[in-house]
Amino acid sequence: MSPRRSRGRRLVLVAVAAVALVLAACSEVDNNGQNSLQPKGPQAEKIHNLFVPILIIAIVVGIAIIIATVFLAVKFRYKKGVNENPKQVHGNTRLEIGWTVIPALLLAIIAVPTVATIFDLAENPGPSALQVTVEGKQWWWQFSYPDAKVVTADEMVIPTGRDVFVKLTACDPKTGPTVTCNVIHSFWVPELAGKKDVVPGQTNTLTLNADKPGTYLGQCAEYCGLSHANMRFRVIAKSPADFQEWLSEQQQGPVNALYTTDADGKQVPAGPTQKLIVNTFACTNCHVFDDSSQVAYGPNLTHLASRSTFASGSYPLTRDNLVNWVKNAPSMIPMSSQGCRLPPGDGICVGMPSFIENTPPGQQSMTQQQAEDIADFLLEQK
Ligand code: CUA
Repeated sequence: MSPRRSRGRRLVLVAVAAVALVLAACSEVDNNGQNSLQPKGPQAEKIHNLFVPILIIAIVVGIAIIIATVFLAVKFRYKKGVNENPKQVHGNTRLEIGWTVIPALLLAIIAVPTVATIFDLAENPGPSALQVTVEGKQWWWQFSYPDAKVVTADEMVIPTGRDVFVKLTACDPKTGPTVTCNVIHSFWVPELAGKKDVVPGQTNTLTLNADKPGTYLGQCAEYCGLSHANMRFRVIAKSPADFQEWLSEQQQGPVNALYTTDADGKQVPAGPTQKLIVNTFACTNCHVFDDSSQVAYGPNLTHLASRSTFASGSYPLTRDNLVNWVKNAPSMIPMSSQGCRLPPGDGICVGMPSFIENTPPGQQSMTQQQAEDIADFLLEQK
């Protein structure tokens, strides 16, 4: 075998190995919970049905161009002893009309199903759909069910087989004007629907629907600051009966009350841990602990323990994780909250502060025991 041929063979082998490696990675992508090529609901199906034919057309065009390029490069390559200067050509009307008309036609053909799908997906699914308001925050997602008066975070629970009409906004006026409202996010659950931007001062809508019970991973898909990459969420689809059960559980009051009425008829923290939450560390500046219908600056924690994750879906809700989070949240997710213990709104504090570092003068630093007490209190709030 000539050395040249053996080198060619080696190149082919390397290419085959590279393709095999890339394809092997695809099997991992298959089940990562965020595979838009595996639609799990009718809206995602429609997008997929549009994507596949366009992909095939693009592959055919791409291969044709590569073959033509290689063929022409080989056919008209430099040959020894042949005149080096190619024939000088200026314009070719037939060719130019050809490569203008063919792509224009292709785009026109693709535009028909594309525009039809865009209008189809934008249609309001009507009153039978479940209404959910989604608010993109820095850096977590709030989900409100206006009809049931339930507010939750990080995990959007939906019934299977029913359209969910999602209203997307980056700022709810009720939570007050804060600097964290002025950021664009993008709501994306690849297996259930397309991407939709979440814009301050505007309400965008999106319909999604899950065929089967399961957990579908979502992600903020628009750069929104320091912890953009940690701004995850989950859509948890339950059977209609299980969903109703979840919803009525969320409507209940908290397991542990935050306040009680003292002998003088005054509202006071109901116990020592509640005192830590209300007075010592003023967690109530940003969170609601005792009313699942209320929105706040931070996630509503009335039924925190009913969720499987927290910190915008970045951590499983375990005791260790929660204790660390209560003590020093910025060590788990980067946030702009150094030295911040004040209520939000001053335009500097974004995210949960650390209660053991950068303690402002006059404030307490949190002990391990206090963090454990608060975490245990929260873990009872099913
Ligand atoms: Cu929110 Cu990126």
